[in-house]
Amino acid sequence: MKLLVPLSLLALALAVTAANDGLMVCYYGSWAVYRRGNGKFDVEAIDPAICTHLMFGFAGLGSDNKIKVLDPWNELCKDSGKCAYNRFTALKARNTNLVTILAVGGWNEGSPKYSTMSSSASTRKIFVDSSIELLKEHNFDGLDMDWEYPTQRGGKPEDKVNFISLLSDLSTALHANNMILTAAVSAGKLTIDPAYDIPGMAKHLDIVNLMAYDLHGAWDPYTHHQSGLYQYPDDTGDNVYLNQDFAVRYWIDGGMPSTKIVLGVPLYGRCWKLDSNTEEHGYYAPARNPGPAGPYTRTPGFLGYNEICEFQKKENNWVVEIAPGMKEPYTYSYSHSRIWCSYDDHDSCVEKANYAKSKNLAGMMVWSIETDDFHGICGRPFDLIKTLRETFTGGDIPTPPTLPTTTIDPSAPPTTAPLPPPDDNCSRPGINADPENCHHYYLCTVSVDNTYSAQEELCAAGTLFNPNASICDWEDAVCAIGSGICKNDCP
Ligand SMILES: *[C@@H]1O[C@H](CO)[C@@H](O)[C@H](O)[C@H]1NC(C)=O
Ligand SMILES: *[C@@H]1O[C@H](CO)[C@@H](O)[C@H](O)[C@H]1NC(C)=O
Repeated sequence: MKLLVPLSLLALALAVTAANDGLMVCYYGSWAVYRRGNGKFDVEAIDPAICTHLMFGFAGLGSDNKIKVLDPWNELCKDSGKCAYNRFTALKARNTNLVTILAVGGWNEGSPKYSTMSSSASTRKIFVDSSIELLKEHNFDGLDMDWEYPTQRGGKPEDKVNFISLLSDLSTALHANNMILTAAVSAGKLTIDPAYDIPGMAKHLDIVNLMAYDLHGAWDPYTHHQSGLYQYPDDTGDNVYLNQDFAVRYWIDGGMPSTKIVLGVPLYGRCWKLDSNTEEHGYYAPARNPGPAGPYTRTPGFLGYNEICEFQKKENNWVVEIAPGMKEPYTYSYSHSRIWCSYDDHDSCVEKANYAKSKNLAGMMVWSIETDDFHGICGRPFDLIKTLRETFTGGDIPTPPTLPTTTIDPSAPPTTAPLPPPDDNCSRPGINADPENCHHYYLCTVSVDNTYSAQEELCAAGTLFNPNASICDWEDAVCAIGSGICKNDCP
């Protein structure tokens, strides 16, 4: 690992200068390792040449205000863990320009813990110090702050000011250690207005990851595009704000330098089920329910691009259309439970990267790499990420410099020590369901005395643990599986 240390010194310089070539920021949702079949995606499935910045999602926040490893069995090496953090940062040996960043927060972490942590200098210091220690221990090059969102979802009005104090404390500490600070931010005006002091953020952030997606979804009772570049002609009211062009201009007009912004593109679709009593299948078609879950991501109202393109390839009757005036496709299939999805494809990635270039942005971002067509089932592997990068930079993706293979740290492949016998709550390391209670699950690790220790994790309200998919999923979706799953918690 020693030989990798000098590389982190490059990170700061790279984050600033690479803007000329264009950044390609790729988030990785580490729970994709638990997906089935062609959906399973472990760290080594990442092509280290195609992104300039790789973001590991997610770390969390503990009640002690320290940064918290959310899945210690997958992420750490101890207790026969799988070392995912170290294997992730070790990808730098195969692209010495790569910047690897740990993202903390995300939608599921909510807002209240971050609100509390940021409210005093002493609790901020606990968070900052613990973050620097964790980042250094695993050879990360920076931290991505994904608080969704200050002042919102249970946050407090003071969050707007405290968030800037937090970013200030973080950037001072990170820069002193040659690391960078980035943040994932909302693209919605109704969140931006209360949550963000944009000029204050501009002082401390090296990169701003604009989450220009989820602008519409199954929470709307009608179809629309989740990541429209421009306004749909029929939009009125607050819907006129829910497009990427509005969000980009709003952030820039609000005081964020364009050269710090990377434009987020979703590598997934947001999906509805068209109401049964309608013939409509364009924008604003009545659709009061989410589309059915996919085989890999198993989340109602959501399909990875890989799931969409595999369905389109394997099943007949998937229609693809682009509405007049719009730049990105939607697709629907009456024979697939009347599903209707808005998503991005090759051509819309070209449109969006050209747009970002025309606005002098720093580059592109994707959520997330593990739902691109990484197996190359519908085209070349990782076509959407490659297309965004090539279009933005106007050239081929360069072959990255690598370290000689003799210096590559094998980073401790999973050890195969015998596992302890099952106890009440754990039968294997990692995520374990409780057959009697689907409102929680256990994260199990192996202790030094070769027994299990279990950490209870609660599913958010309205969700139940789906033992088949190893995720907290919508109650309806879990109960629809049948076969006695969650018999105590389903109607
Ligand atoms: C299993 O979890 C319950 C809490 O849900 C706890 O009371 C019990 O002690 C745990 N059993 C073991 C063996 O850890
Ligand atoms: C879920 O798992 C159970 C057993 O664990 C199995 O009987 C059932 O068929 C599975 N259902 C789906 C939809 O995969």
